[in-house]
Amino acid sequence: MKYWNTKLKEMTEYIPGEQPGGGGGIIKLNTNENPFPASQRVLDRIKEACNQSLRLYPNSTSLSLRKIFAKDNNIDSDNIFVGNGSDEIFTLIFRAFIENNGVVAFSYPSYSLYYTMAEANGIKYKKINLDKDFNVDLDAFLSKNYDLVILCNPNNPTGKGCDVDDIRRFLDKYKGLLIVDEAYVDFYGETSIEMVKEFDNIIVTRSFSKSYSLAGLRVGLAIAQKDIIRGFLKIKDSYNVDRLAEAGACAALLDKKGLKYNIDMMKNNKEFLEEKIEALGFQVVPSKANFLFVKHSHVQAVEIYKKLREKKILVRYFDGPIQSEYLRISIGSMMELKTLINGLSSILKD
Ligand SMILES: Cc1ncc(COP(=O)(O)O)c(C=O)c1O
Repeated sequence: MKYWNTKLKEMTEYIPGEQPGGGGGIIKLNTNENPFPASQRVLDRIKEACNQSLRLYPNSTSLSLRKIFAKDNNIDSDNIFVGNGSDEIFTLIFRAFIENNGVVAFSYPSYSLYYTMAEANGIKYKKINLDKDFNVDLDAFLSKNYDLVILCNPNNPTGKGCDVDDIRRFLDKYKGLLIVDEAYVDFYGETSIEMVKEFDNIIVTRSFSKSYSLAGLRVGLAIAQKDIIRGFLKIKDSYNVDRLAEAGACAALLDKKGLKYNIDMMKNNKEFLEEKIEALGFQVVPSKANFLFVKHSHVQAVEIYKKLREKKILVRYFDGPIQSEYLRISIGSMMELKTLINGLSSILKD
């Protein structure tokens, strides 16, 4: 710690879900990755891009990807910034769009990286509790002049969605910068992208890690008015998205059938898990994402988490108020979910 600055000494690092090496028969339902492989078209395109052009730098703003996304969403490619995963975009937001004495607000519980990023950048933050049904309390975000508000829609770890019309009404009153994190939006279907045309204080973020099965590729997007995008471009690394990542992400956007197939499969598996896990005595928070937030009526979440781990089944347990009563379980393949249900049945019998 000798050379660490004060900010670094004081901050708590982000603890990602466990990523064990391949093999070993582990069932991984802890980081909301997609259990199905990326489409063959995407894999073929990445292989094709593995050629002599790798000696050249990539396009510095991922222009091909921006053009495809712009066309699909009826916006201009200058309204899009491409990042090395949406996590990079959050880092840039904290560095670029908030003063040192600014205050950020986000819901609790929500994606814990937001808290880490605020600490890493020495920025004060306020956690605003979700209501008892895990709905976002948008009025509470208006109670003070927060400089930045992050809304995760649908929210991680609860899976609850916030109504897009409520977000629009919020923007009518809110004067700071609003980030809508849409990492799971393809499972939900309601986006705030349209509001970018109307409001200069919204940034919508997207990820290729969930519905496109490309967590390993690291691609995310920010969609906002041009002035904001120029801010991102000013501070980004010179070549933040590599050639293979851009090629894969372009192919993913073009493969509409592949995306639909994936989402339908996930929906089917989610319904299966909901039904089976409820039958085992779990309460399930209605989820708009690719995971379930569940609580057993009389066995503690941490006990179940540990016992599942012994059976090589990883789910996510978060320490802290409210969320320590729950487990977050990513929707896996049918085989993984059946193994999970069998594992849970035998734990609960014991
Ligand atoms: C709400 C939310 N936003 C963003 C991310 C990170 O996305 P990416 O892989 O694009 O950095 C995650 C990952 O779990 C997430 O849950």
